[in-house]
Amino acid sequence: MKRKQKRFLQMTLLFAVTLIFLPNIGLWSLYREKHLVKSAILGEQQAFPMGIGDGQLYPWTDGLKRKDWHDYESIQKDAMRSGKGEQGKPYPLTEEDHDDSAYRENGFNIFVSNNIALERSLPDIRHPNCKHKVYLEKLPNTSIIIPFHNEGWTSLLRTIHSIINRTPDSLIAEIILVDDFSDREHLKEKLEEYMARFAKVRIVRTKKREGLIRTRLLGASIAKGEVLTFLDSHCEVNVNWLPPLLNQIALNHKTIVCPMIDVIDHNHFGYEAQAGDAMRGAFDWEMYYKRIPIPPELQRTDPSDPFESPVMAGGLFAVNRKWFWELGGYDPGLEIWGGEQYEISFKVWMCGGGMFDVPCSRVGHIYRKYVPYKVPSGTSLARIRNVAANLCVDSKHGGTGTELRLDICVKDGSERTWSHEQLFTFGWREDIRPGEPLHTRKFCFDAISHSSPVTLYDCHGMKGNQHWSYRKDKTLFHPVSSSCVDCNPAEKKIFMNRCDPLSETQQWIFEHINMTVLEKFNSKKTSS
Ligand SMILES: *[C@@H]1O[C@H](CO)[C@@H](O)[C@H](O)[C@H]1NC(C)=O
Ligand SMILES: *[C@@H]1O[C@H](CO)[C@@H](O)[C@H](O)[C@H]1NC(C)=O
Repeated sequence: MKRKQKRFLQMTLLFAVTLIFLPNIGLWSLYREKHLVKSAILGEQQAFPMGIGDGQLYPWTDGLKRKDWHDYESIQKDAMRSGKGEQGKPYPLTEEDHDDSAYRENGFNIFVSNNIALERSLPDIRHPNCKHKVYLEKLPNTSIIIPFHNEGWTSLLRTIHSIINRTPDSLIAEIILVDDFSDREHLKEKLEEYMARFAKVRIVRTKKREGLIRTRLLGASIAKGEVLTFLDSHCEVNVNWLPPLLNQIALNHKTIVCPMIDVIDHNHFGYEAQAGDAMRGAFDWEMYYKRIPIPPELQRTDPSDPFESPVMAGGLFAVNRKWFWELGGYDPGLEIWGGEQYEISFKVWMCGGGMFDVPCSRVGHIYRKYVPYKVPSGTSLARIRNVAANLCVDSKHGGTGTELRLDICVKDGSERTWSHEQLFTFGWREDIRPGEPLHTRKFCFDAISHSSPVTLYDCHGMKGNQHWSYRKDKTLFHPVSSSCVDCNPAEKKIFMNRCDPLSETQQWIFEHINMTVLEKFNSKKTSS
């Protein structure tokens, strides 16, 4: 009896193993077939023989020819370079090199940028499988559109050199530099003279400050390539970055593709992958962009294959030109940046398209320490100064839960950066937050009653205690408690009080705000 049972178990086990592993009838073959179908859709080569790179064409099951697009000559040239910052290594900084003035005009260390080669080499940090991928022999060409505003000289030039050096010439229809009304001298004639050496570079300029989105739209409107590829003006493209993007679009034109965005450190210009590397795009309830891990059920067997992402990061992507315009391009009412990626992402999905991140395409980007430019118009205010005290509201005394205080007003000019604590944003949620519009911290002015202190508290975006309006009589009014912000200059305290427009301690001057915008904002509120 016992032996019979054991035998039965052995047979079952053997059968199960057969089912899983037998090459052509087992579950394994089912899995493999499914996988092949999937990878044919994705257009990625599967189990490809090693040792390619001979310019040979490889027929594929869909009848389309593919080839190895690597430029081995350029790869070899890069490999031989040595020097400071080469191979994407951090520049060896001394104490003085950290001087804040190096960051002031660009938001990153321009001294380091000026001291590393324009044609510096980067490490190939792609997944090893990328080395063996082949892409369609016939790929569409692309207009590469690079908007800029007061970009640093060497950071802009390095962007262009990296593109020229690491992109097959046949795929570049043109490189369009779109100047959003810069006033820095080096971006005028000097730039035109320099770029004259590159036959494919065109420079166009806006007639007034337009912000990133209308600047991109201007570039897109004059582009002639089959695909539009948008990049930033402080990027470095990595080895064989473009063919995998164009390949994905060639297979299905209703596709937006994004490269992996690597980090070029704003201090030392070291090049590395973002934390976590391949992740999906997402956003929170406040529309802040986030990256979240790819759930296991959506992970590809080959982690170097393109994967779908709900929303893109924004700055760097490629899209079929005709389809971009079919989607309506961008909403031209968008100012600066920070919302456009949602607009375009939602339209892609709603119009039957798809969005992919492509691990074999990598582009480095300098994430700035702070935003060095002024925003064109809108709701930012540099500081809130009290008339009686001649002191400013200051948020440096702490984070969420702390009381706002008065402090000596920081000087105008270079201090207007989000690293300082006297800059506030009066946003569309009708709350007030420390920081630049693009980098506000997530606390808001908050008051719980007509006599409480004004504190900083986690923003909830639901008005109530965090709902403010600035009135013509210079009072800062809190509708929910029907009271006004008052202060005690001697103790530097800020608190709520019964409104008294004649009291100078209740009068606040919003400096650097566009009054037209603020008035429009307030009139909208009173009428609704
Ligand atoms: C880009 O490709 C299109 C279609 O093949 C072609 O008509 C056009 O001349 C190409 N542009 C450049 C600059 O190669
Ligand atoms: C304020 O904003 C309005 C509307 O956006 C604009 O027309 C005006 O030129 C701006 N004023 C200043 C001083 O920037």
